[in-house]
Amino acid sequence: MADHDENVVWHSHVVTREQREQHHGHRGVVLWFTGLSGSGKSTVAGALEVALSKLGVSTYLLDGDNVRHGLCSDLGFSDADRKENIRRVGEVARLMVDAGLVVLTAFISPHRSERAMVRERLGEGRFIEVFVDTPLEVCETRDPKGLYKKARAGELRNFTGIDAVYEPPETPEIHLDGQQLVTNLTAQLLDLLRREDIIKS
Ligand code: ADX
Repeated sequence: MADHDENVVWHSHVVTREQREQHHGHRGVVLWFTGLSGSGKSTVAGALEVALSKLGVSTYLLDGDNVRHGLCSDLGFSDADRKENIRRVGEVARLMVDAGLVVLTAFISPHRSERAMVRERLGEGRFIEVFVDTPLEVCETRDPKGLYKKARAGELRNFTGIDAVYEPPETPEIHLDGQQLVTNLTAQLLDLLRREDIIKS
């Protein structure tokens, strides 16, 4: 906590989240995709966003590779920087959920403690953890950005799955087999959102 915190007081505004949610016609939630680099997080989140958008859902996709060009461009891949990356993204997602959006995030977010921190900040029923479970060997074969090759050659340090840890979720809201077709995975996520009463159609 910074020293000025005692002088900063929360201001409650007149328009509430409930009113904003009414405008959108659905609740605000975050779908937090986690998994190895190359597991398919961004691809599946992107496909789900297209499907949701067609259903008239107000969405926003926060993607690690993009956020690291702006909001988090000062951060690298040490444990401390990853923690700060996830903290910032968690806070942005929280604001967007307060705005009534269905937020999709695609970050490796390798540590259980950081994902738990975001879950806690979002509050009951607002954080849906989506584990995109794709074996390291498969991600490494896909290697869409050539980064696994670099990591194996020792040209890239602290690479998740190679010389940095990935802690899989123990009780995610949904556990996806990242080797299935994207259309199939998208359908599973839409089913979950219907069951949770987040989307109607
Ligand atoms: S996180 O660990 O802090 O959640 P984030 O999802 O933002 O990571 O960024 C991961 C992306 O950055 C990877 O998909 C990959 O393209 C790139 N990247 C560059 N260096 C690394 C590294 N050392 N470990 C993991 N990903 C890296």
